[in-house]
Order: sequence, then structure tokens, then C-alpha cells
Amino acid sequence: MLKSHSCGELRRGHDGQVVTLAGWIHRRRDHGGLIFIDLRDKDGIVQVVFNPEISEEAHRVAGEFRNEYVVQVSGKVALRPKGTENLKLPTGEIEVVAEQARILNTAKTPPFYINEDVPIEENLNLKYRYLYLRRPRVKDNIMLRHRVVKFMRDFLDARGFVEIETPILIKSTPEGARDYLVPSRLYPGRFYALPQSPQQLKQLLMVAGFEKYYQIARCFRDEDLRADRQPEFTQLDIEMSFIDEEDILQLLEEMFTTLVETVKPDMRVIKPFPRLSYAEAMERYGTDKPDIRFGLELKDISATVAESSFSVFRSTVKSGGRVKAICLPGCAGYSAKQIEELAELARSYGAKGLITMALPAGEDVEQLSPEKVKSVVSKHLSADELRAVLRKCEARPGDLVLVVADELKVVNKVLDELRREMGRRLDLAAPDLLAFLFVIDYPLLEWSEELGRWEPMHHPFTAPREEDIPLLDTDPAKVRARHYDIVCNGYELSSGSIRIHTRSLQEKIFRLLGYSDAEIEERFGHLLEAFDYGAPPHGGIAPGIDRLVMLLARADNIREVIAFPKNQSAVDVMSGSPSPVSQSQLDELHLMVKLDDTVGR
Ligand code: AMO
Repeated sequence: MLKSHSCGELRRGHDGQVVTLAGWIHRRRDHGGLIFIDLRDKDGIVQVVFNPEISEEAHRVAGEFRNEYVVQVSGKVALRPKGTENLKLPTGEIEVVAEQARILNTAKTPPFYINEDVPIEENLNLKYRYLYLRRPRVKDNIMLRHRVVKFMRDFLDARGFVEIETPILIKSTPEGARDYLVPSRLYPGRFYALPQSPQQLKQLLMVAGFEKYYQIARCFRDEDLRADRQPEFTQLDIEMSFIDEEDILQLLEEMFTTLVETVKPDMRVIKPFPRLSYAEAMERYGTDKPDIRFGLELKDISATVAESSFSVFRSTVKSGGRVKAICLPGCAGYSAKQIEELAELARSYGAKGLITMALPAGEDVEQLSPEKVKSVVSKHLSADELRAVLRKCEARPGDLVLVVADELKVVNKVLDELRREMGRRLDLAAPDLLAFLFVIDYPLLEWSEELGRWEPMHHPFTAPREEDIPLLDTDPAKVRARHYDIVCNGYELSSGSIRIHTRSLQEKIFRLLGYSDAEIEERFGHLLEAFDYGAPPHGGIAPGIDRLVMLLARADNIREVIAFPKNQSAVDVMSGSPSPVSQSQLDELHLMVKLDDTVGR
């Protein structure tokens, strides 16, 4: 080894020891006689001091050091002189007094600061990802990810789970996104798909009798990207036999709770994890992935305003829509510009408009007369209606109430987004809280207007509740699923379900979803056949590791916790992928590329 110790491990107890370190120059300060450097390696940063009176040669070499040079230094650990300790650094009580130094490699000036955590344009940090990863915070994220995955492996291993790899070249599994396809050279015109998840394979492992499976599984989905989505991402994929919902929920609650206690003890969880039905989540938060670290709950005021003289409210309710509101504490003083900004936001999520009601500070809400409320609806609501609305919204003097009237879907979407945005702006969420919750009692199916058929809420392998099976023939919308989600701080962290394990029920569901018998056989024949050979009752779940680590790292984008992510347009900026391939590669695959004017060349 070119080093005896790592930079980050040195402490007061090493005082007097002679050490050899190797790493990168993080920062360099030349104080005339003395040169100070912060030397960085994977474990941290330590101060090295070069004093010409101790070693003229080492001091001369240090004079050539520049940021990001790779160097080796030997010297003696010493306590820093009183008053010069740096309590922000774990090594801040000591320094290394250099006796020898050599440059192992020089470095060009990096295109951005490594020793200052200032924002950088995304494509630049992706292009020079290996430099971005040198930033201590980003490196810590990757280290945290390692600890999280190791914890998961140890936790599941201790409970009898086996880690089994499943193939990456498979037949397409429907998870709701588009597949990435890989052309077959040996079978011209045929394609493998990259797994959107190992869903069918883990079910087949249950048929094979493994009972408790897990995998740190890479998944691939060609879908629109967002801050919490990448085209390839990682799941902790779990499947178990002979269980019901409660077994999975208990296991996951214990795993996440002990995970946080172990790898992130400065954060906390709510125990036990709250449980919300899908219907309740939609009613109170407008989404099935609510951030429950703060209130600002949605209040349905449809019944209260159904008969009011404000025609938007009246006609919305009459035509089957809803009127819902959220109450922003202390925001009555918002300027016209701030209110317009909120209205613009609401419109960007599909609202036709946003109605606001600003309540005067210091006036009893129960005594308020409509003209005191700054709102377009004041003159259309009677004093009783107005007070009933405010009571329903639990509004207090000085609050600003935001109201949206529309189809329920639009109302929920818009108020969910406004609630999230205002939670952020008003800084309502405790940053150290990981508010996990279970969302349960999902419907099995939802009607797709666009496709004109039923779609699974989760995936087609999810079992309906036993007692609801007869409804599949009479009222599919009412069938409840044995599906559960784990949500944390407003993100969907995991989805899972108890699965169908008999051919007859699985075929029935496929038919309900609009597959023809030929399609069922072609796409799922292997799974259905397996069910004929004694498939055990089974179920599972798949927490997204990128999203989990993002929350643990308090980052707001999963790219911050992935070593080599793609950008928002699914491009690997560093290597320039996707890229054209040679004609001979295409020929070998019997492929022809046809570009028209609608696509870039
Ligand atoms: P689902 O499709 O809900 O379920 O995915 C499970 C979890 O994977 C994460 N996730 C993603 N993370 C980053 N980028 C993406 N594009 C992305 N898509 C999903 C989320 C999500 O909650 N086979 C089922 C699980 C099962 O039923 O056991 C499945 O894949 O955290």
C-alpha cells in the first residue's frame, strides 16, 4: 500500500505516530513560510502542514501542489496548536507535520469546484461524473447507498431469505412502461426485453419452492423521466410464499425502522407506520403518496357550497364535480403577485382557476361577515355559508384558503401539487423525519378512458380480495386488491401485493384486461403453466433503492445517489450514449434504421 493510514481516520489518539498518507489535494493555503493542505481520500480530509524548518524538501514539493494533484505525504501526527482546532472536521483536532512528500500525478484544473458544494449545471456534472463524485457530499451519498444495501442483505439473510439473480435478457413483463428491447442476432427479427422488474421470475421462484427470495434487482423502463425516475433503477425485490399482507407489512416496517436506526440515526420514523386506505389518502391528500409530515389537508366543501349563488361552485357540484380547499396558515397577506403565482401553478396542473379567500387577522372567524373576506366569492356566499366553509377548512384569522372546483381528478391533482409546494415554501416538514406509511385497500382495476378498457392499478398478477371475486363479473370497479404501497415523505417507495396463484383466476383477470386467449398464451403461457404444477400462495414487494437512499441522504433527486445516472432526457452524457452503431453491427442483427424528419439524426 502507498499509505499506512487513511486521511479520514486520524484522531487525537494518533498523536505522535508517523504516518504515510496518499490522496488528492482538496485545498492549499500558502502562508508565506508555512504551506497548509487539506488532503482528501475516500474516508475524509486531514490537514497537512509543511514547515521548511522541519523539511525543506517536502516544503519545496508542496510548493508545486495544485488542487486535485494526487500526492503521497509522510509525517508525524501532532495535536493542532490550541485555538486552531477545526471542530467541523472529524480530524480537526490534529494535523500531520510533513517530513516527505511526492507528487504521484498532476491534474488539470477541474471544470467546477470540488472543494465547494456549489450547484453545477447538470450536464456538466454528468459529463465529469468522476469529478462530481469526488465532492465529499456526493461521495457520502454513494457510501450511504452501500451501507443501505449491505443492511438489507444482512437483514434478509438473518431471516432466511436467499438472494437469487434473474436474467436481464427476458421476455417483456408488463409493469406499465415501455420496454427497452435488445435485438437477437441469432434470431433475426426477434427481440429480448430488459426487465421492467423481475416480477414473473420471482413468482416462478416461489413455484420452484424457494419461499423467501430477494434480489438487488436492476430494472429498466422506457418512460418519461422525473426527479424520482431513471430509465434504469434498482429495487430491493422481495417475494415470499405462504404469507398474507400482514407478514410483508410487518417485515418491511421492521426493516425500514431498523435500517434508519442503524444507518441514519440522526433521522427518525413514526412508529408504528400509519396505515391509510387508498380512498382516505385520496380524500385527505388528493394523492396516494402523501407527505404526512405536515397537515394542510384537503377539505371537501362541495356540500356546503352546492346551493350557493356562486355559479362555478353550484354548477361544478351539479355536474358531479367537487369543490375542495386547503388552508394556508398565516398567508392572508400574500400580495396579488404571490396569489397570481399560485393560480398559475394551479393552471399548470390543469385547474381552470384558483379561488382564494384571505381572512383578516385578529377577527373571530365565527363572527366574520363576507365583505371582510378578500375573495371573489365573498359577495356570492351568505354569512352562514362562508362560516360553514371556514369551519370545514379549520381556518383561523390571517389564513389564506385556496379553493379548486372541477372534476374530482383535477381537484385532487391540483391541490396535491399546491399542498406539496406550500409545504416546501412554508417549511412545514421536519427535515429529520421519514414519515413512512402504508397505503392499503386499493381498487384492483381502474377504467382507462383513453384505452377504453380496465387497467390494473398495480400489475395484472395482483390478487383480488377473496370475497370480491364474484364482483369481477358484475362490478369490476368495486373489486378490492390485495395490494399495498409504502410511501415516505410524498414519494412512492414500494409497491407490492399478494399474487394470484391459480390459472383460472389469472386467466380471468387477463381476459378482463382485454387480452385475447391467443395473447394470454403467447405472453403468459409459461407462468400459467407453472401455476398448474402446485404454485404456493405467495406475495411480495419491491422498494425502490434509489428513492429510499435519496430520502435518507435528504437529496431531492435520485441522480444524487446514483454513481452514473442518465440525464433527464435518458442520455449518458459522459460516454455519449445512446449513440449510432456501425453498419456492420446493424447488418449482423438484420436491422435497418429508418429516420424520418420527426426524429433527430
Ligand atoms: P413498481 O412498478 O411499483 O412495482 O415499482 C416498485 C418501486 O420501484 C421504484 N421505481 C422507480 N425508481 C426509479 N426510477 C423509476 N423509473 C422507477 N419506477 C419504479 C419505486 C417503486 O415504488 N414488480 C412490482 C413490485 C411487486 O409487486 O413486488 C414493481 O416493480 O420506488
